[in-house]
Amino acid sequence: MLTFLLLLPIIVPGTVLEAMLPPAVASHALHIFLTLAFPNSMAVEVTIYAALDDVIFATQQQHTGEIVYLRPWVHPALPESQWEYLHDLFKIYVHNLILLLNGDAKQHHEPYPFVYQSVTGCDLHSNGSYTRFYRLSYNGRDLITFDVDRGRWENLEAGKVATRIATAFHDFIGFSVTLQYLLNDTCKDHMKKLILSGKKDLERQVKPAAVVFARTPEPGRLLLVCRVTGFYPRPVSVTWLRDGEEVPPGPELNSTPILPNADLTYQMRSVLAAAPRDGHSYACRVRHSSLGDYSLLLHWAPASPKPQHVAWIVIAVILAASAAVAGAVWWWRRR
Ligand SMILES: *[C@@H]1O[C@H](CO)[C@@H](O)[C@H](O)[C@H]1NC(C)=O
Ligand SMILES: *[C@@H]1O[C@H](CO)[C@@H](O)[C@H](O)[C@H]1NC(C)=O
Repeated sequence: MLTFLLLLPIIVPGTVLEAMLPPAVASHALHIFLTLAFPNSMAVEVTIYAALDDVIFATQQQHTGEIVYLRPWVHPALPESQWEYLHDLFKIYVHNLILLLNGDAKQHHEPYPFVYQSVTGCDLHSNGSYTRFYRLSYNGRDLITFDVDRGRWENLEAGKVATRIATAFHDFIGFSVTLQYLLNDTCKDHMKKLILSGKKDLERQVKPAAVVFARTPEPGRLLLVCRVTGFYPRPVSVTWLRDGEEVPPGPELNSTPILPNADLTYQMRSVLAAAPRDGHSYACRVRHSSLGDYSLLLHWAPASPKPQHVAWIVIAVILAASAAVAGAVWWWRRR
């Protein structure tokens, strides 16, 4: 049985909001994703996209190789000459990578189809530290990684493919040094310029919508569900209050991860296990940066006796009264 109770959220001032949300200094990430799918030795499908934090801002057209700017603030962030340089660099890199990976597969009779995926980029953490990385996977398994500080390629698994590709990358003239340079300096520089240019888009605030409802998976078990959706940015705090006190983490609490919606907002749900008619009051509290110092508070109340019950009682009383009157009339006539 499913009971569904939709409640209008009540906005209440929050006092400990600051403590619940991530630190004011935001962390940022600039990552580039490349997928090379080889259906056979004669063909390859290339997919490239670049993301700043969770915003995909650029991709590459498969046939023309042109960079497609997906947000209006991307192209103005860097001078035209820099975009041309990046475009040429990427063209050479992808071209050589395809030759290298396909050549290795042909020479060593690795079975087709197979997929290589690389992720590279840099992260600026809220404590001010800066990290960068390059990882390559083969058919979904991590294969090799780049030690940027030492300029060395390392195997992430013991297989022959990993050893061969790490050696080939090491021998790929200029690759390691160029990658070090790009990750040491260029990535950080471009990240900062893109953040500045896309500030309005990246700092977008979209308020969450929330509903509370109950499920009864079996008699004697009540699951209270708080579903929160449509918010941006990602960080959110969803807690349950029992008689006004926050329910601490434990086996009765269960939350989904924060999941993306299709429109670059996020959703999550938090489920609290309770006993039906346990006499407690429950509420779900949602805190999010878009709400400022306020939080959403959604009270849950068990469904009250259904109106139909009242109607049946009225009908029964009327029927009983009619029967009594009819009986009285019949008895009076018989006299
Ligand atoms: C900064 O934060 C990152 C990510 O949370 C962490 O890996 C790193 O160790 C921290 N560095 C310092 C100096 O605290
Ligand atoms: C990149 O930085 C590392 C230290 O973090 C340094 O060893 C290396 O020489 C630098 N390489 C380039 C090309 O900037």
